[in-house]
Amino acid sequence: MRSIIIRRLLQTCCLLFICLPAFSQTTTFTVFADKPGADIQPTMYGIFFEDINMGADGGIYAELVKNRSFEFNQPLMGWKVEGKPVEGDILVLHSTDYNKSNPNFLRVHVGNRRKGELGLTNEGFKGMGVRKNITCHFSARYRTANAGITLHAELVTPDGKLIASAATAMSPGNGNWQTTNMELLPAEETPAARLTIWLEGNGTLDLDMISLFPANTWKNRPKGLRADMVQLLADMKPGFLRFPGGCIVEGKDLANRFQWKKTVGLIENRELIINRWNTEFSHRLTPDYFQSFGLGFFEYFQLAEDIGAAPLPILNCGMACQFNTAELVPMEELQPYIQDAIDLVEFANGPANSRWGKVRADMGHPEPFHLTMIGVGNENWGPQYIERAREFARQLKAAHPEIKLVFSSGTDPDGARFNFLNDTLRKMNADFIDEHYYRSPEWFLANASRYDNYPRTGSKVFAGEYAAHEPSSFVGASRNTARAAIAEAAFLTGLERNADVVEMASYAPLFANAEQWQWAPDLIWVNHLQVVGTPSYQVQKMYALNKGTQTLSLLSENIAVAGQDSIYASAVYDAHTREIIVKVVNAGAKPVTRNITVNTKRKLAGKVAVTTLSGNEPDAVNTFSQQPVMPVNSVVDINNKRISIELRPNSFSILKFGTR
Ligand code: AHR
Repeated sequence: MRSIIIRRLLQTCCLLFICLPAFSQTTTFTVFADKPGADIQPTMYGIFFEDINMGADGGIYAELVKNRSFEFNQPLMGWKVEGKPVEGDILVLHSTDYNKSNPNFLRVHVGNRRKGELGLTNEGFKGMGVRKNITCHFSARYRTANAGITLHAELVTPDGKLIASAATAMSPGNGNWQTTNMELLPAEETPAARLTIWLEGNGTLDLDMISLFPANTWKNRPKGLRADMVQLLADMKPGFLRFPGGCIVEGKDLANRFQWKKTVGLIENRELIINRWNTEFSHRLTPDYFQSFGLGFFEYFQLAEDIGAAPLPILNCGMACQFNTAELVPMEELQPYIQDAIDLVEFANGPANSRWGKVRADMGHPEPFHLTMIGVGNENWGPQYIERAREFARQLKAAHPEIKLVFSSGTDPDGARFNFLNDTLRKMNADFIDEHYYRSPEWFLANASRYDNYPRTGSKVFAGEYAAHEPSSFVGASRNTARAAIAEAAFLTGLERNADVVEMASYAPLFANAEQWQWAPDLIWVNHLQVVGTPSYQVQKMYALNKGTQTLSLLSENIAVAGQDSIYASAVYDAHTREIIVKVVNAGAKPVTRNITVNTKRKLAGKVAVTTLSGNEPDAVNTFSQQPVMPVNSVVDINNKRISIELRPNSFSILKFGTR
């Protein structure tokens, strides 16, 4: 027995002798695992949602009909009259007696027509994505005094093939508006179907809210959201959902600002407005981009609840977009804006018998939505913003001290505008300051230490919009390179290390429709049938799924690892799983080996689960057909509380191991 022990000792010494020099020549990081630092907020990694790039209408809101209520400023935009109409057969009537918010509807004089002689085709949002054997629910509001009119609904492919049809008789109902519902079952899949309606019979028919939704929405909710798009959000397990933007909050002018009260209640009473991204960029005009508000504030709160995210609504503060009209509401007329914020708390959290809580309850959610934060303004700046922000803060804090308020630090993360807002808001003791940075990948790498010297007390940072932007020679989805994502991952090590300063972070924008985008890069690209998470999405998801509960100090030669030899690193502890999680980024072009020593009295598991995202080519992007930049899992050993890991060029790795 003694000789066996001596032999084992000798073997161990030999091994150490062989291994130690190699280990010591390699740079070593030390993780101080027994001294947890700041708490990491459950909100830390979240989602920024804005209806830009057809993110809502034509995107996650699964309505397939464009301009269903004929309220676009060209009322027949998206529609084509079919057959042999004569003048006056199809008219757009405008009646505020009928509906103040949506006054337009169609009047069709059917006049002894057979099927195929008079109808309308809707082109969808550059086509309608339908799947074989997935039912589409057709509905329309109608009114007629005449019996004997039949409405035929058909789905047709771009080359004219009929793939689904249904018909129903329009019953006269004492001249009242009624709703008709039908089911269309596509015989094949196409991303570019069109909906044609044929009218047969004799008489006059009024039509409005002509709508088509796939049945397989998220949670199969009628007239709901695209399940594949929501699933990607749910997969991130986001800490919060910021909505509805973004500049859309401000509007180009105050008349077209986002007003949450106009987005709740019956869909047919939600007043449509132009989407501000419609004509924002002359090189990316989208003249048919409007906001139907089918995805309104109730649905945003419900989405947040579904995916386990804290709701974070951002409200207009009495200022339109300062890049556009910069309209300001005078201070003496600010009260309705503040009242909107106070009422929103009641809508989200108030009892079901309160005025606004009842609106929520009537929409099917008597329980509260647990709102804890509100943003006041989006990218607003200047003394005019501060003047309005102060009044919002004064009244909201008096009415709802439990609600944390988020204030804007403008459009840029530095410069006079930022400094003024940052200093003033800190003096005001703002709960959160919303910082935005759309900068080059190099900026993200150089700023991984941005928060190391921030004040540790007072206002917290909300990194509310960020994305590494490749030069403009990269267009559209090609801007979402692996290099940009790796730079973001490097920057996020700095956020994680400073989780006592930064409590929330979200990439922006979220969605882009490949057919009709205005702004790139974006986190997720979609077409009518597919979704793809960019390399940046993978980075956000990897962070969100591995956020931990407390920071751990990770040092190399007593300093934080923030760019030495293009390496960036941070570490956290997860008290729920009792795991240590180390994140390491190699932003360089060469493979690098690093040793990690875990300074702890605890026992460690023998194996480390490693997840690595790497772009062999820095320009690599994920497309609908190929996703070369995806996380890959592997395992390495821990020996004597030491790990040796080879970091691939342009890569982000997460190392996770248990403690006992
Ligand atoms: O994310 C796109 C836009 O960028 C947002 O609407 C705005 O807040 C920022 O300028």
